[in-house]
Amino acid sequence: MGKDAQILALLADGRFCSGQELAKQLGLSRSGVWKIIQNLQSRGIEVFAVQGKGYRLAQPIELLNKDFIDQHIAAHPSMAAWRGGFPGDVVVLWEIDSTNRYLLKHGALGSAAGMTCLAEMQSAGRGRRGRVWVSPLSGNIYLSQLWTFQSGPAQLSGLSLAAAIAVVRVIHQFGVSDAGLKWPNDILVSGKKIAGILLEMTGESNGPTNVIAGIGINVRLPDTALQAIDQPVTSLEAELGRPIERNRFVAQLICELFNVYERFSENGFSTFMDQWHDLDVYLNQRINLNLPAGTILGINRGVDQGGSLRVEYNGQIHCYQSGELSIRGQTS
Ligand code: BTN
Repeated sequence: MGKDAQILALLADGRFCSGQELAKQLGLSRSGVWKIIQNLQSRGIEVFAVQGKGYRLAQPIELLNKDFIDQHIAAHPSMAAWRGGFPGDVVVLWEIDSTNRYLLKHGALGSAAGMTCLAEMQSAGRGRRGRVWVSPLSGNIYLSQLWTFQSGPAQLSGLSLAAAIAVVRVIHQFGVSDAGLKWPNDILVSGKKIAGILLEMTGESNGPTNVIAGIGINVRLPDTALQAIDQPVTSLEAELGRPIERNRFVAQLICELFNVYERFSENGFSTFMDQWHDLDVYLNQRINLNLPAGTILGINRGVDQGGSLRVEYNGQIHCYQSGELSIRGQTS
């Protein structure tokens, strides 16, 4: 653990801790402590410094805890049903360029089957369509999982939609009951993005295929992050008005996702269609579908058995495997 992680862990409960005490525990000078506090502040953590009392976080933070996550996974009711036994290792990192990239590297070495990688912050978080996923140190969830499917990529269409269903289910379980889906895999609350998924695949056309499912969930967004994001966003804490138990959330999400992969391996996307339609916030609404060749105006008629979007226009249904959907009159 680096000194910045250690200081944050000592302040995590939101109570005051003196500069002297922090310096003693970390074997640093008081000015060394101050430098680290400034570094944390520059990364999005709000720390109050009060003369005579010391330092305190503006809000307590629950740091990722591998032991806690492992224990919750082991106690999960699905555990006994997993045919292949428990998935892979859970790796918790302080900082990484991108948790997806971490697994791409380890997957290529063949050492990461079923692995989940989590980080407190990402320096080069990746979003869909080459966008940046703003990933400050503020208690958000940056999670990637590597799963090997025996089939080729063509049989895996719809997998990212199924993974998005798992994310929404957990968000509902933690109290944000109006979270829903926008094709293909954005998770929204009242039109604002709360989570996104980036699926990356490697392998042969006939399989097996290594899938890396990268999931970003906004738990707490500092002002600096809000300014850096160019679309309407929200977070779990903004919706709930209170903190969530982040490690319990992560453990639950890992289990839901593994259940989805198992079900998908057996039956493909078709068994998820009804759930998708229940959660699709723009079902039967007039939409724009932006494609490289131009924009299509039509009505969102849900998805087909492979997860393609069904758009009705000129009295017919047309299916699309990719594109950027927006609701008429909005830009996101
Ligand atoms: C999107 O654009 O909606 C997808 C965002 C996916 C972000 C997550 S955060 C964890 C993982 N690592 C990355 O670099 N990206 C994904």
